[in-house]
Amino acid sequence: MSALISSQAGPLSGEASVPGDKSISHRALILGATAVGETRITGLLESEDVLATATALRALGARIEHEDDLEDGPENGGHWSVFGRGVGGLGEPAGVLDLGNSGTAVRLLIGVVATHPFKTTFSGDASLSKRPMERVMTPLRQMGAQFTTRGGRLPITVSGTTGPIPITYELPVPSAQVKSAVLLAGLNTPGRTTVIEPEPTRDHTERMLAHFGAEVDIADAPDGGKTVALTGQPELTGKDVAVPGDFSSAAFPMVAALLAPKSRVVLTGVGVNPLRTGLLETLKDMGANIGVENKRQQNGEDVADLIVEASALKGVTVPAARAPAMIDEYPILAVAAAFAEGETRLEGLGELRVKESDRLDAIARGLAAAGADVAETEDSLTIRGTGGVAGGARIEAAEDHRIAMAFLVLGAVTERPVEIDDGATIDTSFPGFAGLMNGLGADISPPGGKADG
Ligand code: S3P
Repeated sequence: MSALISSQAGPLSGEASVPGDKSISHRALILGATAVGETRITGLLESEDVLATATALRALGARIEHEDDLEDGPENGGHWSVFGRGVGGLGEPAGVLDLGNSGTAVRLLIGVVATHPFKTTFSGDASLSKRPMERVMTPLRQMGAQFTTRGGRLPITVSGTTGPIPITYELPVPSAQVKSAVLLAGLNTPGRTTVIEPEPTRDHTERMLAHFGAEVDIADAPDGGKTVALTGQPELTGKDVAVPGDFSSAAFPMVAALLAPKSRVVLTGVGVNPLRTGLLETLKDMGANIGVENKRQQNGEDVADLIVEASALKGVTVPAARAPAMIDEYPILAVAAAFAEGETRLEGLGELRVKESDRLDAIARGLAAAGADVAETEDSLTIRGTGGVAGGARIEAAEDHRIAMAFLVLGAVTERPVEIDDGATIDTSFPGFAGLMNGLGADISPPGGKADG
């Protein structure tokens, strides 16, 4: 494993663009593979998770090519072209599809193949093999698919149905992955497939389905929920997709800049879909000075530049209702809370226990090891900010990229350095993280190594 050490930095300054959005990247490849003709993707996140989706889609018969198009900018790589097989046109893969660390990839692809009439076996790494999959299998069984599993977990063999049945399914957990699995299964299903979500979750699948030409009707459901209905067996046409920067990745330099005194950082081209930016709202409630400027639209998604200035933060209560819009941001929010004045309460965090690691536990243990005042319950965290955190801890990243990055940000502002045991896990979502942070003035390097600027 490749350890990394983060030492106290001076003010952070400069401009950076974070890599492409992970959720949108997976969906662009998947919908490209189910469309007819060419889908040209720029700004695709070239991380392990997304590349695993591309490999799996190739094994299912899509042609996917990468072109080195330097004009796109080295941080985003060149463009990718997907030549799709049309709705229902994928074919049986010869081998097992290994989706590595990616819950999104495996859950969305299980949905896709559930309504293709062949068998597909999925596997993943140690972290993914512990994560619950029953949540996608329950609705997909109702649509006609069958599953052989290891106790509801990977490896899983999907026997896709030859006679898909459209369903109306109410999500028992607020999960965009489950919603998307059902909608993607609904693509090759006659009639209307409907998902009711009592608490709205990220809507990238719906937006992109519409972008590719599907008929998607979205209506408000009682008590703030939403109903999403997809008309099955549409003719999807290959499209251009420009992937915005990932808000969930931008969150790390954003919080670092808020906490490191006298910092000013500009993050350009960040996706600001309102179902993703709960952290922005929370940080503003805490007193953060973050400007959202140059708002624009990119293939149906909102994009903006974020201007972040060092700010004195105060503790807040973050209600459970906001969790779906900031579900991936709790590790980095907890770091911000440790530096805020007063108490921060984070509620409704049960889902964090089934992410890439038990994130609730990983946050609580890591912050305590670094000297912060933190208390954990089954589904909440309370962090009492004391104005500073000592650091000087070695944190186990537990195969979890966001835990690794959150604690490297912590080390940039603690008195003593913070070490994480496994920096390689960061490539799951944010290749080039240390280089980008160091370019802004952070000091992140391997033990005994030189900072990678
Ligand atoms: C994602 C949805 C979220 C999120 C994950 C990406 C997606 O998971 O945590 O990183 O792309 O749909 P859940 O939908 O399971 O909460």
